[in-house]
Amino acid sequence: MKALVLAGGLGSRLRPFSHSMPKQLIPIAGRPVLCHVVGSLRDMGVVDIGVVVGDRGDEIASVLGDGGPLGVRITYIRQDEPRGLAHCIVIAREFLGEDDFVMYLGDNMLTDGVQDIADAFRARRPAAQIVVHKVPDPREFGVAEVGEDGQVLALTEKPARPRSDLAVIGVYFFTASVHEAVAAIRPSARGELEITDALQWMVDRGADVRARIYSGFWKDTGRIEDVLECNRELLDRLAPSLCGEVDGESELEGSVAVGEGARVIRSRITGPVVIGPGAVVRDSVVGPHTAIGGDCVLDTAEVQDSILLDGAALRRVGGVRASVIGRDATVSSTVFARCGKLVVGDHSSVEVAA
Ligand code: TTP
Repeated sequence: MKALVLAGGLGSRLRPFSHSMPKQLIPIAGRPVLCHVVGSLRDMGVVDIGVVVGDRGDEIASVLGDGGPLGVRITYIRQDEPRGLAHCIVIAREFLGEDDFVMYLGDNMLTDGVQDIADAFRARRPAAQIVVHKVPDPREFGVAEVGEDGQVLALTEKPARPRSDLAVIGVYFFTASVHEAVAAIRPSARGELEITDALQWMVDRGADVRARIYSGFWKDTGRIEDVLECNRELLDRLAPSLCGEVDGESELEGSVAVGEGARVIRSRITGPVVIGPGAVVRDSVVGPHTAIGGDCVLDTAEVQDSILLDGAALRRVGGVRASVIGRDATVSSTVFARCGKLVVGDHSSVEVAA
């Protein structure tokens, strides 16, 4: 089985970050979402991975490379514009050939893994197998009506009156029969080739389209609050490790991972917390649920439940929580000041008045 990972798109819901980086590279618990996705595919035993990229493909390639160190083989497929999920299958035709494949949205996190769902697909090989998740309010999702035997009866995009509570989430399994469906459908009202339309086209023609329920933790990391929730969830599974230096005047409690070359000086860290390689944490109070990127600087800062991307700095600021601070961005004050929730784009500089 091959994989098709979708890492193009606009990422408009994740601005300002998606102005300067592909949203699939936002780090969660210290690793870009896409690396979590590739890890999940490898756990399914998939090594041949096509990655659909938009105009930020270079940045994605600089992180994933040819996949070698991650134990996979990556082929990049360029999409000129976000023309829909089904369009990604159209442009990946040559890479996919006649093989079965799993399509994985590059911003989706299914942290409990889908190996059992992949095994079910391999055993039965239906024309398509979608993954559904019970949600309290299905109106903002693609919703599947599923028979008792797991057969998909109908799919509706964002229904006003949902006929089930099963949202279609970002992992789909297909045999080569999907190529006929994506070639047959036409763009929707929003101008995209919709995967829901391709699946419905298959259902209408009596193809074997099945659904499997995933009941673990799932998030589409399309919005800041989802990124932070996912960060909390993954950090709760963090194994402690110490590769950097912690001085005798610092206190570490709970699960804390200190990266290579990182230094913790006169600080209190309450896990789960990741401190990236080369970061310096001085006279600060950090955690819980905080992921500090590589080469960050925290000086007289207090931060919890937040993500700092590589090179971010906090100086003389407290009360930072539920925040995402972009790459090489700085939040500072001349005298110690409290600031609360912040979303700061890459390379920004915020001065907080005391
Ligand atoms: P979406 O989150 O549905 O779309 P988007 O990235 O444009 O985000 P937003 O709604 O915030 O503007 O896309 C799901 C995943 O699929 C995501 O990783 C981007 C990717 N994608 C493509 O690669 N090509 C496409 O044509 C589309 C629509 C999405």
